[in-house]
Amino acid sequence: MAGNTGVEEGVGRTALMVAAARAIETHRHDALARDGYAEHFVRAARASADWPVRLQQVPDGDADPFWGRFARYFGLRTRVLDDFLLRQVRAGTRQVVLLGAGLDTRAYRLDWPHGCTVFEIDQEDVLAFKDRVLDGLSAVPKAERITIGADLRLEWARELIDAGFDPAAPTAWLAEGLLLYLPHAAERALIEAVDGLSAAGSALAYEVKLGTESAAVRESPIYSAARRRIGVDLLVLFGGEPRPDSAGDLTARGWSTSVHTAFDFTRRHGRGPHPEPERPDALAANRWVFASRP
Ligand SMILES: C[S@@+](CC[C@H](N)C(=O)[O-])C[C@H]1O[C@@H](n2cnc3c(N)ncnc32)[C@H](O)[C@@H]1O
Repeated sequence: MAGNTGVEEGVGRTALMVAAARAIETHRHDALARDGYAEHFVRAARASADWPVRLQQVPDGDADPFWGRFARYFGLRTRVLDDFLLRQVRAGTRQVVLLGAGLDTRAYRLDWPHGCTVFEIDQEDVLAFKDRVLDGLSAVPKAERITIGADLRLEWARELIDAGFDPAAPTAWLAEGLLLYLPHAAERALIEAVDGLSAAGSALAYEVKLGTESAAVRESPIYSAARRRIGVDLLVLFGGEPRPDSAGDLTARGWSTSVHTAFDFTRRHGRGPHPEPERPDALAANRWVFASRP
């Protein structure tokens, strides 16, 4: 893909950011999800070799807005989306597609029923880095795993089908932390493609932001910390375009959708990030959407 820089630069580096957050979550005594591979990715890349992988390495610990609260957000998101995928496969789905898979190790971590295939789509260089690290650890996937290097802003459905994806079988789709980085038109095209490839019984989970961030929210310490500490300008990567209403689009296409804040799941699990009503909150506009095709 044009501008493909792997995990070291640009949007690829956000995959390392999430891996570091998962590593920190993994070492919490009350972890919502554990990913023993995450810290290996962080240590293996030049860009992230000195980032923290445990809360004890963060001077302010949980009070740190970035490696504390924001990392916990990713821990909760990981758990909730693990549960989503496991629900689908326990109900009979055998095909899983991770859109913008990044350094997601679900193919290796989760207990998949026999016969599951996990397709992972991301930038070719991100997947090559991931495979290098996992091969170095002699990691073995617990499902058939098929990786596809593709630009999700362009046509990718043909490559997925050529890789063995069956549009006649129900699919569990996941776009975790992806749509925020796609231009408006690319998000609309991706939803249309998912709809076109989804047999009855398919389900999709994804994360979006409601609208663009207000000037006050753009000042949030999460964004300044991301720029300063890990060299990621999330606001630039998000772009300034108004977001499409993908949940509305899916409903119009006959899907059932439910839309949640992360805080809904904090309440459900008894831990996770809490709302910050006192100051502009970069997490307040985030929504996790669950859609199913009856
Ligand atoms: C924040 S990371 C999330 C990764 C993974 N889903 C997770 O939650 O750990 C965003 C991922 O989207 C991928 N991505 C962003 N834009 C993309 C594009 N146009 N084509 C393919 N992958 C893309 C990046 O390479 C990166 O791995």
